[in-house]
This record gives sequence, structure tokens and C-alpha cells, in this order.
Amino acid sequence: MTVLALAGVTRVHGDGETAVHALKGVSLQIAEGELVAVMGPSGSGKSTLLNVAGGLDRPTSGTVHIDGHDLAAVRDLAALRRRSVGYVFQDLNLITSLTAAENVMLPRELDGVRSRKAREEAMAVLTEIGAESFADRFPDELSGGQRQQVAIARALVGERRLLLADEPTGALDTPGGDEILRLLAARCEAGASVLLVTHEPRYAAWADRVVFLRDGVVADATDVPMVSAR
Ligand SMILES: Nc1ncnc2c1ncn2[C@@H]1O[C@H](COP(=O)(O)OP(=O)(O)O)[C@@H](O)[C@H]1O
Ligand SMILES: [Mg+2]
Repeated sequence: MTVLALAGVTRVHGDGETAVHALKGVSLQIAEGELVAVMGPSGSGKSTLLNVAGGLDRPTSGTVHIDGHDLAAVRDLAALRRRSVGYVFQDLNLITSLTAAENVMLPRELDGVRSRKAREEAMAVLTEIGAESFADRFPDELSGGQRQQVAIARALVGERRLLLADEPTGALDTPGGDEILRLLAARCEAGASVLLVTHEPRYAAWADRVVFLRDGVVADATDVPMVSAR
């Protein structure tokens, strides 16, 4: 079963002389249970790829399917995203007026889950991730690593089929980063699929497959040595 399918995806930011061709015909499929890492230099289109894959940005041409649904034809894209896609943003995007737990509860409450149940779910994920001790603090009372844990918890809560994570380990030390990869891999075992942008070969080594982006094109990865960490 294919959870995510991109076919011939291009994305041009801006137009005219200043147009940037961030993706130039990317095709990619991710199966149920697969953890795929995306690596590539800064500016190669990794964040654009994730945004397009999660329906936060529309491709200029080409198609994106999540669980067989063509994102261009989905009536309530926001609902599909909330229900099916967990997203860890490169700049986290936590809501500063909400506590850590409330940030994690929010997507569930938007989806009609009652506060009490949403709180239970949020606390379960925060505990799993080792963040329960600061569940009731606000983002500006947390360290960078703690904020990152909260953003990851928000992406994991609920039964998300597809997790998109843009450098989710950036502010974490090595044990913290390893712990996140362990969590993502466990979600894959449970049937979710993960697309993970990382600069770190250490974390990419957890992936079933590594996709290399260069100037908006998927580069051939067959000659890249991989050492499995699992
Ligand atoms: N909203 C935008 N408007 C204009 N250019 C953009 C925008 N987003 C990204 N780009 C450009 O697209 C290219 C790919 O960017 P990005 O996807 O962020 O790459 P990466 O995440 O690999 O660093 C870069 O040249 C970047 O400057
Ligand atoms: Mg980026």
C-alpha cells in the first residue's frame, strides 16, 4: 500500500526573472511502514518537497496522492491534513499562548475530539517522548530541545498515517536525536510512513531508504554507502 505518491512534481516559487525552480520533476513513493530520509544541500528543495507532500503548498505541476487521495481534488484539505499528516516544521511553529500540552491537544480538538480525551492523548504522547514534566509550560519557558520535543509530540498525536519531519533533531543532542528516531521508527512499525529531512548521516542510517535532492532533482543514491543503525 502506497501512503504517499508524488509524480512529476515541479514547484516554481515566484515568476519571471526571479522565478526559483525549487522542484524539477520529482517522483517518489512511500509505502506503508517505510521510513524515508531526504538529504541534500541547503536550497536543494527539501522543505519545498515536504510542504508539497503534506498539502501545505501546491505543486506547479504534477500530482500528490496521500492514501490514494489526489490532494488537488480533496474537498477539505485541512481536515485530511489534520487527520492523516503529522508535520514537524523546521521552525517548529508552536503557538506561544498555549502550553506544551495544549499545543499537542490542538489538532485533536480541531478534529472534534473532546478536551478531556485530547488531553489524555496529548499526555500519553508527551510521556512517550519524555516531555511530561514540562507539559504545562509555555513554549518561551522551554529550551530549544524541549520545544522540539513538543513539536514532535504534536505531529505524533492521533492516528497519523504520514509523518513529515523537517530536521526534527536539529536542536537536540545525540541521545535526544536518537530517541526521536526510535520513536519515528516505532511509528513505522505500527504502520505509519515517515519522510524525514536530515543533514545527519547518523539519523539517515535509520531509514529504509535515502533520497538525495540536488537542485530540485532526485539524485541517484545507489553509490552512497549506508550503515544501518537498526
Ligand atoms: N516561498 C518561497 N519563495 C521564493 N523562493 C523560495 C521559497 N521557498 C523556497 N524558495 C527557494 O527554493 C529553493 C529551495 O528551497 P527549500 O525547499 O527551502 O530548500 P531546502 O529546504 O533544501 O534548504 C531555494 O532556492 C529557496 O531559496
Ligand atoms: Mg529546509
